[in-house]
Amino acid sequence: MTSGIPAPPPVGETALKPGSFDGDTVFITGGGTGLGKGIASEFARLGANIVIASRKPEHLEAGHEAMAEIGAECITVQCDIRDPDSISAALDVAGERFGLPRVLINNAAANFPVPAEDMSPNAWRTVVDITLNGTFFCTREFGRRHIGAESSASVVSVGASYAWTGGPGFAHSAAAKAGVKNMTETLAVEWGPYGIQLNCLVPGLFPHEDMTADIQGNLERTHDKDVCQPALRVGQRQELGWAATFLASPYGQFITGHTLTVDGANWQRRVLTNPPVVSTREQLGKGPFDPDQKR
Ligand code: HXC
Ligand code: NAP
Repeated sequence: MTSGIPAPPPVGETALKPGSFDGDTVFITGGGTGLGKGIASEFARLGANIVIASRKPEHLEAGHEAMAEIGAECITVQCDIRDPDSISAALDVAGERFGLPRVLINNAAANFPVPAEDMSPNAWRTVVDITLNGTFFCTREFGRRHIGAESSASVVSVGASYAWTGGPGFAHSAAAKAGVKNMTETLAVEWGPYGIQLNCLVPGLFPHEDMTADIQGNLERTHDKDVCQPALRVGQRQELGWAATFLASPYGQFITGHTLTVDGANWQRRVLTNPPVVSTREQLGKGPFDPDQKR
């Protein structure tokens, strides 16, 4: 019988003891949509105060509403993680309300499918700037404040498995996520003596209603996503949230510099006789390469 990995317990159950994050504050980038909202919700259920930072008011509003439904204390702050001053100002706002957050979740990222030969320099720069540079800028500001205050802290950065496999159709994002994983490994050593723990959390396929039209369109080319996974199902957001809460909890403290993959073994799925090669252009539904056209 092949029925795959069982479905997880429902949304609303917690993996850790109730109140595990009472008195803690979690600062999460991109926490108003998709997986960020899912991760923030699990911290909120365990008693954490939540600070959601991102650019768009409608996303901040959605995140705030979700946290209010759970009954968590939450503030939102407009912030573009490409801008170090904006990050510093957001952490100031968080600090005025709750004190310096103990947990940073680097969840915000940018991505769209595009064959490398069609990618403009600005397209590459934009994705790397948000996904890699923005993640470093947030981590740097957060780390400096904790080192200055002599307080321990936890950072969880959301990655992607194409960081180590390569990501055809996503060269910019794959390279940026590789940088995020590597940065985590470096800083875990540099900042271990200060009591700052850093890990990378890698989701497999977690479809959700907030996915951008570009990503959604790309996924729609595969009709039954469950049967394409060794687990015979995609991930559910609470499963990622539970992993994040564990890593940032007292029970996960000695895990640092680690990359935890939550993907039902999807990235390991390969054989030496893979299905016939389909070019990346074809997979993305692109016509023949036209050197005069950018996309
Ligand atoms: C080719 C594109 C493009 C596309 C944008 N560009 N979309 N190129 N194909 N589909 C190019 C633009 O033409 C421009 O280059 C450059 O990228 C910057 O575009 P802007 O629209 O000016 O950038 P900005 O307003 O800063 O918006 C950033 C963005 C946007 C990345 C383009 O989509 C965004 O804000 N995304 C945030 C949310 C997000 O991406 N979520 C996905 C995370 S999911 P030129 O040369 O024209 O100036 C993820 C993993 C998913 O990471 C895994 C799924 C299985
Ligand atoms: P999403 O809903 O599109 O989330 C991206 C978030 O990043 C948005 O809330 C967005 O908010 C924020 N953001 C983007 N640019 C920003 C900037 N410059 N400054 C501040 N915030 C910014 O996508 P998602 O699927 O939930 O992705 C969340 C994380 O999971 C990402 O790191 C992604 O790479 C990773 N991931 C997802 C999957 C999946 O299957 N969904 C798989 C692998 C990895 P604003 O627009 O309001 O700024």
